[in-house]
Amino acid sequence: MPSVLITGANRGLGFGLLKLYVNDGWRVYGCCRNPDNAVELKALAEASNGTLTLHRADVEDDASIEALKEKLGGQPIDLLLIVAGYYGKTIMTDPGGFQEFGQSDYDDWAKILEINVLGPMKMAEALVDNVAASEKKQLVTLSSAIGSIGGNGIGKMYAYRSSKAAVNAVMKSMSIDLKERGVTALPLHPGWVRTDMGGPQADLDSDTSVNGMKKVLDGLTPADAGRFLDYTGAELPW
Ligand SMILES: NC(=O)c1ccc[n+]([C@@H]2O[C@H](COP(=O)([O-])OP(=O)(O)OC[C@H]3O[C@@H](n4cnc5c(N)ncnc54)[C@H](OP(=O)(O)O)[C@@H]3O)[C@@H](O)[C@H]2O)c1
Repeated sequence: MPSVLITGANRGLGFGLLKLYVNDGWRVYGCCRNPDNAVELKALAEASNGTLTLHRADVEDDASIEALKEKLGGQPIDLLLIVAGYYGKTIMTDPGGFQEFGQSDYDDWAKILEINVLGPMKMAEALVDNVAASEKKQLVTLSSAIGSIGGNGIGKMYAYRSSKAAVNAVMKSMSIDLKERGVTALPLHPGWVRTDMGGPQADLDSDTSVNGMKKVLDGLTPADAGRFLDYTGAELPW
């Protein structure tokens, strides 16, 4: 039975992906900041005969990552799926949510970088041995087309955009540095999706995005290391 560890598993795309892996019979480690408050996740875990377990992981809290690493011990993780992310205090479709020039909130920008860039790096550094000990050896972070420098035709979104461009660079380096350990690392764009973050005007419903991403993830091979793919499997410009 392959295994997946998912961060941000309590809602949005993380929860959608988690349900697909549970239904597919994987061993699932569902991680979130407050497992005790994650009502739907807890109900799923209770009904799962132990195939879904819940764990605390707040990517802004190093101690929680260290505790997770200790709790996992040498358990292999076929797919480390880093979904936890943060757009900023206001979502894109809210008034003032476009993070325009002249409106920067630097404290919030630092938090965005902490969660979206340092978070994936910390999770990867903590759990790379578990990934390398597995069969599939896959390490994927949900990035965004908004992080594509080549695809930036509208400007704005300085904080979120820079965080996703940075995590793309991080994942590209990982794809090179971890190759000799057999690890396939890459960033994956889910599409613009109607979640709390994507907002109600987004293009896609969550099911379309998570089913598409699962198909792409199921089909990954080592040759995909360091590619920037979207939920349809299409390659995006850096
Ligand atoms: N939705 C889109 O249109 C879209 C487009 C492109 C990329 N993405 C990316 O896809 C990922 C998931 O997005 P989403 O739409 O599902 O977002 P969402 O609905 O806002 O959910 C965000 C998730 O991240 C978790 N999270 C936030 N800060 C965290 C922290 N410090 N430590 C651990 N978990 C934390 C949240 O947990 P809490 O419940 O505890 O806050 C929640 O589970 C993100 O990386 C996002 O940037 C989304």
